[in-house]
Amino acid sequence: MYSDKVIDHFENPRNVGEIKNASGIGTVGNPKCGDVMRMYILVDDNTKIIKDCKFKTFGCAAAIATSSIATEMVIGKTIYEAVKITNRAVLDALDGLPDTKIHCSLLAEEAINAALLDYSKKKGIVIEGLKDIKCDFRG
Ligand code: FES
Repeated sequence: MYSDKVIDHFENPRNVGEIKNASGIGTVGNPKCGDVMRMYILVDDNTKIIKDCKFKTFGCAAAIATSSIATEMVIGKTIYEAVKITNRAVLDALDGLPDTKIHCSLLAEEAINAALLDYSKKKGIVIEGLKDIKCDFRG
């Protein structure tokens, strides 16, 4: 069953929405279930600290809960710290997910990565550890 944290973040998701003039936007999808997660980050270009992060997710309860907690984990971190956030860290922050829903937490890691990738391309900077996400559902 879902942990209290998962239920809390599903019922009261944090940082839902979009950021106008976002520094980076990442959209990823799970081809198996069709769920889609879009993440917006606002980065201070001088300090490289992520000042704000919002998301829109069309997906299951686990996808919404992982999106929500991922935004909280990202805000206040530098882009170099944020790229190191793994789905394991997201899972731990939620006190776990049922085995059949673990794949949902991958979307959060990929969405953060995709938003950082977008930012790095726009700014022409290198963020070590960034993956070149292939599943981009931007439309
Ligand atoms: Fe699709 Fe959870 S079932 S992300």
